[in-house]
Amino acid sequence: MSVLRAQGLGKIYSTKGNVTYKALEDIDLQVEAGEFVGVMGPSGSGKTTLLNLLATIDRPTSGELEINGINPTRLTDNKLALFRRRELGFVFQDFNLLDTLSIKENIILPLVMEGMAPRSIEQRLKPIVELLQIAHILDKRTYEVSGGQKQRAAIARAIIHEPSLVLADELTGNLDSKAAKDVMDALKDMNERLKATILMVTHDPFSASYCQRIVFIKDGRFFSEIRRGSNRQAFFQQILDALSVLGGNFDDVPFSRA
Ligand SMILES: Nc1ncnc2c1ncn2[C@@H]1O[C@H](COP(=O)(O)OP(=O)(O)OP(=O)(O)O)[C@@H](O)[C@H]1O
Ligand SMILES: [Mg+2]
Repeated sequence: MSVLRAQGLGKIYSTKGNVTYKALEDIDLQVEAGEFVGVMGPSGSGKTTLLNLLATIDRPTSGELEINGINPTRLTDNKLALFRRRELGFVFQDFNLLDTLSIKENIILPLVMEGMAPRSIEQRLKPIVELLQIAHILDKRTYEVSGGQKQRAAIARAIIHEPSLVLADELTGNLDSKAAKDVMDALKDMNERLKATILMVTHDPFSASYCQRIVFIKDGRFFSEIRRGSNRQAFFQQILDALSVLGGNFDDVPFSRA
């Protein structure tokens, strides 16, 4: 079953003085239930634009979008907000946790907003925080835990309501390599054990090597796609090769890790 179907998706930004900029053109993308897909591309290639369209934060100027069988571009604002809350989970580069809440309160927020009973919330929470190894920090505040722990809490929040699709934007961007590895291992667990369907935008070939499939975009258009075999190390090398064919600005990429 396809969780995400995008067909001919395009985005033209209009800026001051009637200047327009074609940031995305004719993107076809399909993500099946249970898949873990990465999107890579040089700086300015349209990755964030694409993610914003899929996240229903921004509307496409052309093409069709369907998430879990629903076309979000046809929903009214109220229904769209509800759709986003139920069908999607988000993980951002800068964690986006609320400082005034504990780690636990942050994680269960989506369920509290749905009015779920406290006992049911606890039942949902337990296996997820155990898998993510954050059960011991639930009562702490966000400023009392490490970056890697914050991001694992953010992953828990993104999946606790069992969304159809989890969208992640550079989720290891603010982490050192050890924390990045822990976070990617955690995300992989969510995909493999809890069957979360994930689409992740990243600059980082190491993080990308955890995906099952990578879609490369360049200048707003589809460029190529690669699939992982059984070996992550080999996939990491495949990603580096694909990036060198792609060209563009990848100066900030740590090419030596894996
Ligand atoms: N709101 C906007 N108005 C006009 N142009 C925009 C807007 N947002 C992005 N762009 C342009 O669209 C293109 C794609 O931008 P986007 O942010 O999607 O790139 P990206 O692949 O995420 O880049 P990076 O890797 O640097 O984050 C860029 O040329 C950018 O300047
Ligand atoms: Mg971006």
